[in-house]
Amino acid sequence: MRTLITNGTIVTAEGSTVADVLVDGETIAAIGAGLAGTLGADETIDATGRYVIPGGIDVHTHMELPFGGTFAKDTFETGTRAAAFGGTTTIVDFAVQSRGRSLREGLDAWHAKAEGNAVVDYGFHMIMSDVNDQSLAEMDTLVAEGVPDFKLFTAYPGVFFSDDGAIFRAMQRTGRNGGLIMMHAENGLAIDVIAADTVAAGVTDPIGHGLARYSVLEGEATNRVIRLAEAAKVPVYIVHLSAREALNAVRQARDEGLPAFAETCPQYLFLSLDDLSNGFEGSKFVCSPPLRTEDHQRELWKGLVKDDLQVVSTDHCPFDFHGQKELGRGDFRKIPNGLPGVEDRMDLLHDGGVVGGRITRERWVEITSTAPAKLFGMYPRKGAVAVGSDADLVIYDPNRKRVISARTHHMDVDYSCYEGRTVQGASDVVMSRGTVVVRDGTFTGRKGHGQFVRRGTADHARMA
Ligand code: URP
Ligand code: ZN
Ligand code: ZN
Repeated sequence: MRTLITNGTIVTAEGSTVADVLVDGETIAAIGAGLAGTLGADETIDATGRYVIPGGIDVHTHMELPFGGTFAKDTFETGTRAAAFGGTTTIVDFAVQSRGRSLREGLDAWHAKAEGNAVVDYGFHMIMSDVNDQSLAEMDTLVAEGVPDFKLFTAYPGVFFSDDGAIFRAMQRTGRNGGLIMMHAENGLAIDVIAADTVAAGVTDPIGHGLARYSVLEGEATNRVIRLAEAAKVPVYIVHLSAREALNAVRQARDEGLPAFAETCPQYLFLSLDDLSNGFEGSKFVCSPPLRTEDHQRELWKGLVKDDLQVVSTDHCPFDFHGQKELGRGDFRKIPNGLPGVEDRMDLLHDGGVVGGRITRERWVEITSTAPAKLFGMYPRKGAVAVGSDADLVIYDPNRKRVISARTHHMDVDYSCYEGRTVQGASDVVMSRGTVVVRDGTFTGRKGHGQFVRRGTADHARMA
C-alpha cells in the first residue's frame, strides 16, 4: 500500500516546510515537492492548510495499573485507541514488579496485557519495587530486551517506595548497562506524616491530598535523587514534575552540566489546586504529585521554553469517579491516584502552547514526540518525518476547534478533567506504521495492530 500525502506543512522539531510525503508500506519512502506527478500511489490525501507531524509519543502511561485496591481502567485496547484519536501513535507504559516477585514476571504480565490488544505501538519501562541482587541482575537482561528504563519511587511508602540505598544501587547498575533511572520524586515518608496529621485535624476531603503533599518535599526529593545520580555518575529522568522547587533543582543540575532530564504533564500546566477544592468532586483531580497553585504553572511553561523540561507526557492513569475514586470518600488517602489524559495531550498543548503563544509549533512537536523518541531510544524510527522512519504520521488541523467532554472522548473513564474546555487544533488523519487508524473522527484501525517497540539505549550524557 502506497499513500501520498500532498501539500501539507511538515512540522518537525527542526522547522516547517510545505512538501509531499510518500508512505510505502510501513515507512516513509520519499519527501519532496511535486511527488504527485512522479510517483504512483494507491491513495492520495490532500493536506493543504494542515500540518503533517510525527505521531505523538507519550512515554508515561499506566494501562491497568493496580493502585489503591483497584486497577486503572483503560486496557491496552481502549487506551491506545484513545491515544490514536488524540494523535498519539506510540505509548511507553510502566510494567510493574510486585514486591517479592521478579522483574521478569512483571514484564511478562505487561506483554500479555498489550500483545494482540494495542492498536498503536507500545514499549515498556519497568517499575522496580524490590531492589535486590536478583532484580539488579535482571536489569541487564531487560536492557538487552529493549526495556532500558526503570522507575523508582521516593513516594508511596509500603507500596512502590525505595530507600536511598536501593535507588543508588539501581543507579549504579544503569551506569554499567546503559539504562536510565526514572524517578518519582516526592518525600513520601514526610508526606505520610503530614497526611495523617491532616486527617487527624478533620480534613478528609480531596483538598487534603493537595495540602499534604508540600511542593518543598517534591523539591527536596528531586534534588536528592539528582545528587544520588551525580554520585553514581549516571543520567536521571524526573517524571511528572509539578513544582517550582523541583524545577529549580533540575535547572541547577543542568546548569552545572549534569545529565538530568525531566517531564511535566498537561494537568500541571492547565489545572490547579482549586480543582481539588470542590468537595468530593475534587477526587477527579487526585494524582501525585498533586495539582499546585497557579504560580507553579508559569514556571513550568518557562521550563519548557528553556529546555529545563524536555518532555510533556500524560501519566495517564484513569479511575472512574463512580466506584473507583469513591473508594476514598471520607479519607483522601484512599483515593486511587491518577488522572485520564492520553487522548487530550496533543490538543491541549497545541491550544495552550502554540495558539496561546507560549511555544512554537516546532517546540510543540519536539516536546510531544521528538524529544521523547530521542531520550527513550526510538529515534529516528519514531519522532521524525524522515525517509526510512516509521510512517507514524498525523495530519493535524491547527484551526479546527473541539470541545473536550467525557460524552465524546474515547478513554474508558466516566469523567474528563477538562470537561467543556474548547481547544483549537485536532488530528484529522492518524497513521500508525502506514495504516490509517483514525480518519475524520472514525476509528479505522485494528486491535492488535500495535507492536512492541524494542528500544535501544540513548547516549544521555551527550544530550545534557
Ligand atoms: O497519581 C499518579 N501519578 N498515579 C500514577 C502512578 C504514578 O505515580 O505515576
Ligand atoms: Zn509516579
Ligand atoms: Zn505515573
